[in-house]
Amino acid sequence: QILILDFGSQYTQLIARRVRELNVYCEIHPFNKIPALSADIKGVILSGSPCSVRDQGSPDVDLSLFEDKIPVLGVCYGAQLIAHKKGGTVMASTSREYGRAKLTKVDHHNELLKEISLDTQVWMSHADTIKAVPDSFEIISSTPSVDVAAYRVKGKQVYGIQFHPEVTHTLQGKELLRNFVVHICGCAQDWTADQFVESTVANLKQKLGNDKVVMALSGGVDSTVAAILVHKAIGKNLHCIFVDNGLLRKNEFEQVLDSYKHMGLNIKGVDAKDKFYTALNGHTDPEVKRKAIGKTFIDVFDEESHLLTDVKWLGQGTIYPDVIESVSVMGPSVTIKSHHNVGGLPAKMKLKVVEPLNTLFKDEVRVVGKTLGIDPLILGRHPFPGPGLGIRILGDITAEKVRILQEVDSIFISSLRNAGLYDKVWQAGAILLPVQSVGVMGDERTYEQVVSLRAVTSTDGMTADWAHLPYEFLANVSSDIINKVKGVNRVVYDISSKPPATIEWE
Ligand code: XMP
Repeated sequence: QILILDFGSQYTQLIARRVRELNVYCEIHPFNKIPALSADIKGVILSGSPCSVRDQGSPDVDLSLFEDKIPVLGVCYGAQLIAHKKGGTVMASTSREYGRAKLTKVDHHNELLKEISLDTQVWMSHADTIKAVPDSFEIISSTPSVDVAAYRVKGKQVYGIQFHPEVTHTLQGKELLRNFVVHICGCAQDWTADQFVESTVANLKQKLGNDKVVMALSGGVDSTVAAILVHKAIGKNLHCIFVDNGLLRKNEFEQVLDSYKHMGLNIKGVDAKDKFYTALNGHTDPEVKRKAIGKTFIDVFDEESHLLTDVKWLGQGTIYPDVIESVSVMGPSVTIKSHHNVGGLPAKMKLKVVEPLNTLFKDEVRVVGKTLGIDPLILGRHPFPGPGLGIRILGDITAEKVRILQEVDSIFISSLRNAGLYDKVWQAGAILLPVQSVGVMGDERTYEQVVSLRAVTSTDGMTADWAHLPYEFLANVSSDIINKVKGVNRVVYDISSKPPATIEWE
C-alpha cells in the first residue's frame, strides 16, 4: 500500500482516490501521526497544504523516516518542504502560479515522467514557489513560469512536483501517479472490488465467529452494502432492523423491506411512526426536530435490539471520509479533527462496533455493491437524510403534512425517473412550506399549501448547483402535482446553489 501524509490540503482525499483508481490500496494519515512503517507500505506521498514552509510552526516531517527506505513523492507543499529541508530556496511566487500551465520541459529518462507528453496541461495552485534547488537535485520538468515544476533528488527515490497530479485538469496526472505508485514503488495493482469482498468476508468471519451482530438499515447504499458483506460472513447471525420513522418516502418502508428480504437478509421492520410523531409534536425548530428524531431512533433501536439475546456487535455502514482524521490548519496552530460518525448508538448500547466499509470512498462502496450483485436501483439511489421528510416539512410535523409531502415527492421523483433525469441529478426532493397562497380552481377560490421542488448537481454534497431541469419537464411536474395532490395549489422551484444556500431547507 501507499501511505499519504496529510498536511491539510483540500486535495488530499483526491490523491487517495486517484491511487485507489489504480487498484492500489492507500491510507491517509495526519503528518504528525505517522504509523510505523511495515513491509507492505511501499511508498509515501506528501500532500499539499495551505501553509507556507517559511512560516514558523508550519507542518513538518522527519524525512529520515522514509528516505533510503521507500520512495517519496512530495506534491506542492510536500515538494516545497523537501526542497526547503535540503537547502533549496522557497519564496512567495511573484508570477501567477495558479491554474492551467503546460510542461515545456520533460525529462523522459526519468521514471516519474515516462510517457508524459511535452506540452501536456498541468494544474498549479500555490502561493509559494521553489526558486532554487541544491546541487543534489535535478530539475526534471518545467513550465514557462515555473522552473522547478518537478525534481528528483539525485541518486535517491525522492521526487517533488509543484503541480497537482490528482486533479483532472492535470491531464496526465493519473499516468504520473501510476509511474510513481506502480513503477517506482512497485505496488501490485491487485486491490479490486472482488479482492476486497473476498478478504473482507474472510476477516469478518474470523473476527465475528459465532457472535451475533445487530444492524440498523436505512435503505441507503452504505448500510445495505455493509449488511450484505456481514451477511455473507455470518448469515443469520446478522440481525437487521429497519425502522419506519413515519418520515420516509411514499411506500418506501414496504418496498425497501421487501427488497432486503429478497436479498436473504434476516430483517425486522418496526413501525414506530406514532412514537416519532409524538416526539415531534409541536416542535418547529430544525435542530430540536433533528434531536427528537435522533433520540427516538436510538430509543426504538435500543428497545428492539434488547429483544435479541447475546448480541455482541453493532454493524455500521460508516465509510472512509467519516473516519479520516482531517488535519485543519488554522493560523500557526495545527489541529486534527476526528469526526467519527457514530451517532450515539454504540455508547448507549455498549456493543463492539464492526464497520466493514470504513476504508472505502462512496464510489468504491457502489462498485463493491455491484460486485455483490445488489440491485442497481438501490446502488443508484440519491442520498436521503436520516431525519427524512422531517427536515423537509418546515415548521411542525403532522401525519397529514407527511402524507401531502409524500405524494408531491413521489410525483417529482417518478417524473425524474420517467424522463431519464434521475441519474443526472445528485439529489432531489420536495419541501412543504409553512405558507398558504391564494389560487383558483374552476370557479372556486383556494387557499392552500405551497411546495418547493429541489434538485441539485454535486459530487459530494459539500458544494452543489441547482439542477437546470428543462422548463417543459418542470411545467408538467407542477401541473401534475397541483392536479393530483389535494391541499397544494402552488409549486415553486428552488434555484439556489450551495454555498450560500444548503441542499436541505432546514
Ligand atoms: P446540506 O443541507 O447541509 O446537506 O447542504 C448536505 C447533505 O447532507 C444531507 N443532510 C443530512 N443527512 N442527517 C443526515 O443523515 C441530517 O441531519 C442531514 N442534514 C442534511 C442532505 O440530504 C445532503 O445530502
